[in-house]
Amino acid sequence: MNAPFSASLVYGLPPRELAAVPPDAAQVSPLIPGSARLEDCAEGSARALVMLAAPGTIERRHALALALRALEPGGALTVMAPKDRGGARLAKELRALGLDLAEEARRHHRICTLRRPSGALPLAEALDAGAPRHIDNLALCTQPGVFSWDRIDPGTALLLETLPPLSGRGADLGCGLGILARAVLGSPAVTALTLVDIDRRAVEMARRNVVDPRASLRWEDLRVAEFETGRLDFVVMNPPFHDGGTEDQALGQTFVRRAAEMLRPGGALWVTANAHLPYEAVLRGAFREVTQRAGAGGYKVYEARR
Ligand SMILES: C[S@@+](CC[C@H](N)C(=O)[O-])C[C@H]1O[C@@H](n2cnc3c(N)ncnc32)[C@H](O)[C@@H]1O
Repeated sequence: MNAPFSASLVYGLPPRELAAVPPDAAQVSPLIPGSARLEDCAEGSARALVMLAAPGTIERRHALALALRALEPGGALTVMAPKDRGGARLAKELRALGLDLAEEARRHHRICTLRRPSGALPLAEALDAGAPRHIDNLALCTQPGVFSWDRIDPGTALLLETLPPLSGRGADLGCGLGILARAVLGSPAVTALTLVDIDRRAVEMARRNVVDPRASLRWEDLRVAEFETGRLDFVVMNPPFHDGGTEDQALGQTFVRRAAEMLRPGGALWVTANAHLPYEAVLRGAFREVTQRAGAGGYKVYEARR
Protein backbone atom coordinates (compact mmCIF):
# COMPACT_ATOMS: atom_id res chain seq x y z
CA MET A 1 0.00 0.00 0.00
CA ASN A 2 1.37 3.44 -0.89
CA ALA A 3 0.49 6.62 0.94
CA PRO A 4 -1.48 9.08 -1.20
CA PHE A 5 0.50 11.81 -2.98
CA SER A 6 1.30 14.94 -0.89
CA ALA A 7 -0.07 13.09 2.03
CA SER A 8 -0.47 13.99 5.60
CA LEU A 9 1.08 11.15 7.59
CA VAL A 10 1.00 9.90 11.16
CA TYR A 11 3.42 7.43 12.73
CA GLY A 12 2.07 5.58 15.75
CA LEU A 13 -0.58 6.94 18.10
CA PRO A 14 0.58 10.34 19.39
CA PRO A 15 -1.47 11.38 22.45
CA ARG A 16 -4.35 13.53 21.18
CA GLU A 17 -3.71 16.27 23.72
CA LEU A 18 -0.13 16.72 22.48
CA ALA A 19 -0.63 17.11 18.74
CA ALA A 20 -3.49 17.50 16.30
CA VAL A 21 -3.44 14.77 13.67
CA PRO A 22 -5.45 15.61 10.51
CA PRO A 23 -8.34 13.17 10.13
CA ASP A 24 -7.15 12.22 6.63
CA ALA A 25 -3.58 11.42 7.79
CA ALA A 26 -2.34 8.04 6.54
CA GLN A 27 -0.91 5.79 9.24
CA VAL A 28 2.69 4.64 8.54
CA SER A 29 3.66 2.82 11.75
CA PRO A 30 5.04 -0.70 11.28
CA LEU A 31 3.26 -1.62 14.53
CA ILE A 32 -0.25 -0.94 13.22
CA PRO A 33 -1.28 -3.74 10.85
CA GLY A 34 -2.49 -2.56 7.46
CA SER A 35 -0.56 0.73 7.57
CA ALA A 36 1.39 2.10 4.61
CA ARG A 37 5.18 1.61 4.57
CA LEU A 38 7.00 4.86 5.30
CA GLU A 39 9.96 3.29 3.46
CA ASP A 40 7.86 3.32 0.26
CA CYS A 41 6.65 6.95 0.49
CA ALA A 42 8.24 8.84 -2.40
CA GLU A 43 10.80 11.49 -1.50
CA GLY A 44 9.13 14.86 -0.90
CA SER A 45 5.61 13.41 -1.17
CA ALA A 46 4.27 14.33 2.28
CA ARG A 47 3.13 17.77 3.40
CA ALA A 48 3.09 16.95 7.11
CA LEU A 49 3.98 14.13 9.48
CA VAL A 50 3.21 13.66 13.17
CA MET A 51 5.27 10.97 14.93
CA LEU A 52 5.27 9.30 18.29
CA ALA A 53 8.90 8.24 18.17
CA ALA A 54 10.17 4.83 19.30
CA PRO A 55 12.29 4.39 22.44
CA GLY A 56 15.14 2.53 20.67
CA THR A 57 17.78 4.99 19.41
CA ILE A 58 18.68 3.28 16.11
CA GLU A 59 15.03 2.62 15.31
CA ARG A 60 14.00 6.18 16.21
CA ARG A 61 16.75 7.83 14.15
CA HIS A 62 15.91 5.56 11.22
CA ALA A 63 12.20 6.47 11.35
CA LEU A 64 13.07 10.19 11.66
CA ALA A 65 15.30 9.92 8.58
CA LEU A 66 12.51 8.15 6.65
CA ALA A 67 10.09 10.88 7.76
CA LEU A 68 12.42 13.68 6.65
CA ARG A 69 12.98 11.92 3.31
CA ALA A 70 9.22 11.67 2.76
CA LEU A 71 8.50 15.32 3.63
CA GLU A 72 8.35 17.99 0.93
CA PRO A 73 10.44 21.16 1.41
CA GLY A 74 8.54 23.29 3.92
CA GLY A 75 6.63 20.20 5.11
CA ALA A 76 5.85 20.14 8.84
CA LEU A 77 7.31 17.54 11.19
CA THR A 78 5.95 17.16 14.72
CA VAL A 79 7.74 14.47 16.68
CA MET A 80 7.35 13.54 20.32
CA ALA A 81 8.40 10.88 22.80
CA PRO A 82 8.12 10.41 26.56
CA LYS A 83 11.08 12.17 28.16
CA ASP A 84 12.56 8.95 29.57
CA ARG A 85 11.96 6.93 26.40
CA GLY A 86 13.93 8.90 23.87
CA GLY A 87 12.20 12.28 24.27
CA ALA A 88 15.14 13.84 26.10
CA ARG A 89 17.38 13.11 23.10
CA LEU A 90 15.05 14.09 20.25
CA ALA A 91 16.10 17.73 19.86
CA LYS A 92 19.79 16.82 19.83
CA GLU A 93 19.24 14.09 17.25
CA LEU A 94 17.35 16.48 14.97
CA ARG A 95 19.88 19.30 15.40
CA ALA A 96 22.63 16.84 14.45
CA LEU A 97 20.91 16.67 11.03
CA GLY A 98 21.30 20.48 10.75
CA LEU A 99 17.64 21.19 11.51
CA ASP A 100 16.18 24.25 13.26
CA LEU A 101 13.39 23.35 15.61
CA ALA A 102 11.21 24.41 18.49
CA GLU A 103 11.01 22.15 21.53
CA GLU A 104 8.47 22.04 24.33
CA ALA A 105 7.85 19.83 27.35
CA ARG A 106 4.30 18.70 28.12
CA ARG A 107 2.85 15.77 30.06
CA HIS A 108 6.22 14.02 30.49
CA HIS A 109 6.89 14.27 26.74
CA ARG A 110 9.31 16.33 24.70
CA ILE A 111 7.73 17.66 21.51
CA CYS A 112 9.83 18.98 18.62
CA THR A 113 8.35 20.86 15.69
CA LEU A 114 10.12 21.96 12.54
CA ARG A 115 9.73 22.57 8.82
CA ARG A 116 11.86 20.51 6.50
CA PRO A 117 14.36 22.80 4.78
CA SER A 118 14.88 22.48 1.04
CA GLY A 119 18.00 20.74 -0.17
CA ALA A 120 19.69 17.50 0.81
CA LEU A 121 19.89 16.41 4.44
CA PRO A 122 22.54 14.06 5.90
CA LEU A 123 20.17 11.11 6.35
CA ALA A 124 22.27 8.28 4.90
CA GLU A 125 23.90 7.18 8.14
CA ALA A 126 20.61 6.86 10.07
CA LEU A 127 18.90 5.20 7.09
CA ASP A 128 21.69 2.61 6.88
CA ALA A 129 22.02 2.01 10.62
CA GLY A 130 18.32 1.12 10.98
CA ALA A 131 17.87 -0.84 7.76
CA PRO A 132 17.27 -4.60 7.48
CA ARG A 133 20.42 -6.67 7.27
CA HIS A 134 21.72 -10.21 7.66
CA ILE A 135 23.71 -10.76 10.86
CA ASP A 136 26.13 -13.62 11.03
CA ASN A 137 26.03 -14.34 14.78
CA LEU A 138 22.30 -15.11 14.48
CA ALA A 139 22.50 -16.33 10.87
CA LEU A 140 19.27 -14.40 10.38
CA CYS A 141 17.87 -11.36 8.62
CA THR A 142 16.95 -8.74 11.15
CA GLN A 143 16.24 -5.04 11.71
CA PRO A 144 16.70 -2.72 14.68
CA GLY A 145 13.34 -2.18 16.37
CA VAL A 146 12.25 -5.80 16.03
CA PHE A 147 12.17 -7.65 19.38
CA SER A 148 15.66 -8.82 20.40
CA TRP A 149 16.92 -7.96 16.92
CA ASP A 150 20.63 -8.69 17.50
CA ARG A 151 20.65 -11.57 20.01
CA ILE A 152 18.56 -14.54 21.03
CA ASP A 153 16.31 -13.71 23.96
CA PRO A 154 17.09 -15.97 26.97
CA GLY A 155 13.42 -17.01 27.26
CA THR A 156 13.42 -18.03 23.60
CA ALA A 157 16.71 -19.91 24.12
CA LEU A 158 15.21 -21.89 27.01
CA LEU A 159 12.15 -22.80 24.94
CA LEU A 160 14.39 -23.89 22.04
CA GLU A 161 16.31 -26.20 24.39
CA THR A 162 13.09 -27.66 25.82
CA LEU A 163 10.82 -28.10 22.80
CA PRO A 164 10.31 -31.70 21.67
CA PRO A 165 9.80 -32.39 17.95
CA LEU A 166 6.20 -31.32 17.22
CA SER A 167 3.72 -32.64 14.71
CA GLY A 168 0.63 -31.57 12.80
CA ARG A 169 -0.68 -28.02 12.37
CA GLY A 170 0.53 -25.22 14.59
CA ALA A 171 1.11 -21.53 15.14
CA ASP A 172 3.97 -19.33 16.35
CA LEU A 173 2.26 -16.37 18.03
CA GLY A 174 4.37 -13.20 18.19
CA CYS A 175 6.88 -14.81 15.84
CA GLY A 176 9.47 -12.00 15.80
CA LEU A 177 12.31 -12.93 13.44
CA GLY A 178 11.01 -16.51 13.16
CA ILE A 179 13.55 -18.19 15.46
CA LEU A 180 11.02 -20.53 17.09
CA ALA A 181 9.36 -21.22 13.74
CA ARG A 182 12.65 -22.35 12.21
CA ALA A 183 13.19 -24.82 15.03
CA VAL A 184 9.62 -26.13 14.88
CA LEU A 185 9.83 -26.66 11.12
CA GLY A 186 12.91 -28.82 11.72
CA SER A 187 10.41 -31.58 12.52
CA PRO A 188 9.20 -33.25 9.31
CA ALA A 189 5.98 -34.23 11.11
CA VAL A 190 4.87 -30.57 11.20
CA THR A 191 2.43 -30.08 8.31
CA ALA A 192 1.62 -26.34 8.59
CA LEU A 193 2.73 -23.40 10.70
CA THR A 194 1.15 -19.95 10.90
CA LEU A 195 3.44 -17.14 12.07
CA VAL A 196 1.75 -14.01 13.46
CA ASP A 197 3.25 -10.71 14.57
CA ILE A 198 2.00 -7.15 15.02
CA ASP A 199 5.35 -5.75 13.83
CA ARG A 200 5.51 -5.53 10.04
CA ARG A 201 9.30 -5.50 10.13
CA ALA A 202 9.30 -8.77 12.09
CA VAL A 203 6.94 -10.36 9.56
CA GLU A 204 9.13 -9.13 6.68
CA MET A 205 12.28 -10.54 8.32
CA ALA A 206 10.53 -13.82 9.24
CA ARG A 207 9.48 -14.16 5.59
CA ARG A 208 13.18 -14.11 4.67
CA ASN A 209 14.25 -16.34 7.58
CA VAL A 210 11.57 -19.00 7.29
CA VAL A 211 11.55 -20.16 3.71
CA ASP A 212 9.38 -23.24 3.91
CA PRO A 213 6.21 -24.11 2.00
CA ARG A 214 4.54 -25.21 5.25
CA ALA A 215 4.84 -21.69 6.71
CA SER A 216 2.36 -18.83 6.27
CA LEU A 217 2.79 -15.37 7.75
CA ARG A 218 0.24 -12.89 9.05
CA TRP A 219 0.83 -9.25 9.99
CA GLU A 220 -1.87 -8.92 12.61
CA ASP A 221 -2.71 -7.84 16.12
CA LEU A 222 -3.47 -11.07 17.92
CA ARG A 223 -5.90 -9.23 20.22
CA VAL A 224 -8.32 -8.67 17.34
CA ALA A 225 -7.26 -11.09 14.57
CA GLU A 226 -9.76 -13.73 13.46
CA PHE A 227 -8.64 -17.35 13.61
CA GLU A 228 -10.26 -20.72 13.23
CA THR A 229 -10.91 -22.10 16.68
CA GLY A 230 -10.32 -25.60 18.04
CA ARG A 231 -8.18 -26.79 15.10
CA LEU A 232 -4.47 -26.60 15.90
CA ASP A 233 -2.30 -29.40 17.28
CA PHE A 234 0.23 -27.05 18.87
CA VAL A 235 1.14 -23.42 19.55
CA VAL A 236 4.59 -22.10 20.47
CA MET A 237 5.21 -18.62 21.85
CA ASN A 238 7.31 -16.24 23.85
CA PRO A 239 4.51 -13.76 24.52
CA PRO A 240 5.09 -10.02 24.73
CA PHE A 241 4.87 -8.42 28.13
CA HIS A 242 5.29 -4.86 26.92
CA ASP A 243 2.97 -2.70 24.88
CA GLY A 244 4.69 0.42 23.58
CA GLY A 245 7.40 0.13 26.25
CA THR A 246 5.00 -0.17 29.21
CA GLU A 247 4.73 -3.48 31.08
CA ASP A 248 1.40 -4.98 30.10
CA GLN A 249 0.71 -8.37 31.64
CA ALA A 250 -2.78 -8.41 30.14
CA LEU A 251 -1.22 -8.66 26.67
CA GLY A 252 0.63 -11.90 27.51
CA GLN A 253 -2.48 -13.26 29.19
CA THR A 254 -4.49 -12.53 26.04
CA PHE A 255 -1.90 -14.52 24.06
CA VAL A 256 -2.46 -17.49 26.39
CA ARG A 257 -6.25 -17.31 25.97
CA ARG A 258 -6.05 -16.94 22.20
CA ALA A 259 -3.71 -19.95 22.00
CA ALA A 260 -6.23 -21.97 24.02
CA GLU A 261 -9.03 -21.00 21.60
CA MET A 262 -7.01 -22.07 18.55
CA LEU A 263 -6.01 -25.50 19.91
CA ARG A 264 -8.03 -28.70 19.49
CA PRO A 265 -8.85 -30.74 22.60
CA GLY A 266 -5.56 -32.44 23.55
CA GLY A 267 -3.50 -29.85 21.61
CA ALA A 268 -0.44 -28.39 23.34
CA LEU A 269 0.79 -24.88 24.06
CA TRP A 270 4.53 -24.49 24.61
CA VAL A 271 5.17 -21.13 26.23
CA THR A 272 8.20 -19.43 27.72
CA ALA A 273 7.92 -16.52 30.12
CA ASN A 274 9.79 -14.41 32.58
CA ALA A 275 9.47 -16.26 35.90
CA HIS A 276 8.11 -13.15 37.65
CA LEU A 277 5.12 -12.85 35.32
CA PRO A 278 1.82 -14.28 36.58
CA TYR A 279 0.91 -16.59 33.67
CA GLU A 280 0.29 -19.72 35.70
CA ALA A 281 -3.20 -18.73 36.84
CA VAL A 282 -4.35 -17.85 33.34
CA LEU A 283 -2.79 -21.08 31.98
CA ARG A 284 -4.64 -23.12 34.61
CA GLY A 285 -7.87 -21.29 33.80
CA ALA A 286 -7.66 -22.01 30.06
CA PHE A 287 -6.01 -25.49 29.96
CA ARG A 288 -6.78 -28.91 31.39
CA GLU A 289 -3.17 -29.78 32.30
CA VAL A 290 -0.26 -27.38 32.94
CA THR A 291 3.28 -28.68 33.48
CA GLN A 292 6.43 -26.68 34.00
CA ARG A 293 9.01 -28.27 31.67
CA ALA A 294 12.03 -26.04 32.37
CA GLY A 295 13.18 -23.18 34.57
CA ALA A 296 16.51 -21.36 34.39
CA GLY A 297 17.99 -17.87 34.35
CA GLY A 298 14.75 -16.22 35.46
CA TYR A 299 12.60 -17.93 32.79
CA LYS A 300 10.11 -20.79 32.84
CA VAL A 301 8.78 -23.02 30.09
CA TYR A 302 5.32 -24.57 30.40
CA GLU A 303 3.54 -27.21 28.39
CA ALA A 304 -0.21 -26.70 28.66
CA ARG A 305 -2.71 -29.21 27.26
CA ARG A 306 -6.28 -28.41 26.19
C1 LIG B 1 8.84 -11.60 23.33
S1 LIG B 1 8.73 -11.33 21.60
C2 LIG B 1 9.08 -12.95 20.94
C3 LIG B 1 9.57 -12.93 19.52
C4 LIG B 1 10.03 -14.29 18.95
N1 LIG B 1 9.00 -15.30 19.07
C5 LIG B 1 11.26 -14.76 19.70
O1 LIG B 1 11.12 -15.70 20.45
O2 LIG B 1 12.31 -14.16 19.51
C6 LIG B 1 7.01 -11.10 21.38
C7 LIG B 1 6.57 -10.75 19.96
O3 LIG B 1 5.16 -10.48 19.99
C8 LIG B 1 4.87 -9.43 19.10
N2 LIG B 1 3.61 -8.80 19.53
C9 LIG B 1 3.42 -7.88 20.51
N3 LIG B 1 2.13 -7.56 20.61
C10 LIG B 1 1.48 -8.28 19.67
C11 LIG B 1 0.11 -8.38 19.28
N4 LIG B 1 -0.83 -7.67 19.90
N5 LIG B 1 -0.21 -9.22 18.26
C12 LIG B 1 0.75 -9.96 17.63
N6 LIG B 1 2.06 -9.89 17.96
C13 LIG B 1 2.42 -9.08 18.97
C14 LIG B 1 6.08 -8.52 19.19
O4 LIG B 1 6.19 -7.70 18.04
C15 LIG B 1 7.22 -9.51 19.35
O5 LIG B 1 7.79 -9.84 18.10
